[in-house]
Amino acid sequence: MKILLTGGTGYIGSHTYAELCAAGHDAVIVDNFCNSSPVVLERLEKITGKPVAFHEADVCDEKAMDAIFAQHGFDAIIHFAGYKAVGESVEKPLAYYRNNLDSALTLCETMKKHGVKRIVFSSSATVYSPECVPPLAEGMARGGCVNPYAWTKFMIEQILTDTAAANPGWSVALLRYFNPIGAHKSGTIGEDPVGIPNNLMPFITQVASGVRDKLNVFGDDYPTPDGTCIRDYIHVVDLAKGHVAACDYLMAHRGVEAINLGTGTGYSVFDVIRAFESATGIQIPYEVVGRRAGDLPVSYSDPSKAKKLLGWTAGKTLDDMCRDSWRWQSQNPKGYR
Ligand code: UD1
Repeated sequence: MKILLTGGTGYIGSHTYAELCAAGHDAVIVDNFCNSSPVVLERLEKITGKPVAFHEADVCDEKAMDAIFAQHGFDAIIHFAGYKAVGESVEKPLAYYRNNLDSALTLCETMKKHGVKRIVFSSSATVYSPECVPPLAEGMARGGCVNPYAWTKFMIEQILTDTAAANPGWSVALLRYFNPIGAHKSGTIGEDPVGIPNNLMPFITQVASGVRDKLNVFGDDYPTPDGTCIRDYIHVVDLAKGHVAACDYLMAHRGVEAINLGTGTGYSVFDVIRAFESATGIQIPYEVVGRRAGDLPVSYSDPSKAKKLLGWTAGKTLDDMCRDSWRWQSQNPKGYR
């Protein structure tokens, strides 16, 4: 299959590119490097042993997208491109709505114009209503989102659902990610946050490498066994393989399916610290501080739909995730810079 990856040089996009190539697909990347580095392309060439078909363009740029679609006959699109910093989305809601919605709309219009009918969307567990009781299943309520980033995921799910309803030949997979961590086994691609990391694992790896003194644990007074929040951490390579399985699925099915990509197992913040320490032998100094606004006590998936529809399950352990995150960080202390 020939597959376009928008945002293909980002954290999840780059790992998905590698897995698509490994599965024998022909992948093409479009990215404008607004939150990623051109160095990723060199790393992907080393991993796959062949040049990357790449276009530097903004997905909101209708003309550029039209030319890319005209050049390649795509069988399917995987749409990763989008702003993703939760805190920044609260400060700059208009920039988030403009960029994330505009790129999705332009992409759908370009798909329609060129007769491309299959799309995998990079959604998030954040679309589930905070009222839902885990394990979170696809049929549960969505909405009540607590930040503009989450609303953009919610709205793009709706845009794609309505577009598929109006265009019966379309096939759409809304992949709802839980908490992706880890990195490619080569240690050459991984998560490269700009500035102070917001997410737990990049913060831990920066503490381990001495870039930061200690981890702040956001609250130990939650109604969980050890008082810290519980999340469904998933290895980014497992997540990437979920996209390959979703592309295969779309070849044979029409309509819209929302599908969780998670392990189904929840770990607390303290579990992750302990797992990282035992996988790497490095102590992580931490301090318990106040809760972070918007954090839910417990979030983990019911991954059974992905198994049933895609034949996919996450295979890697928390130990693998810690080891691989650390390999990436220790081999690239400054990320791609
Ligand atoms: C966050 C976003 C979510 C996004 C996801 C991407 C929020 C509220 N949610 O999820 O929308 O899709 O990232 O991966 O921002 N923690 C600490 N100290 C830290 C960092 C995190 O204790 O320095 C804790 C958090 O309180 C949380 C857990 O670690 O309990 C995981 O946090 P994080 O990695 O930021 O993921 P989420 O908040 O689940």
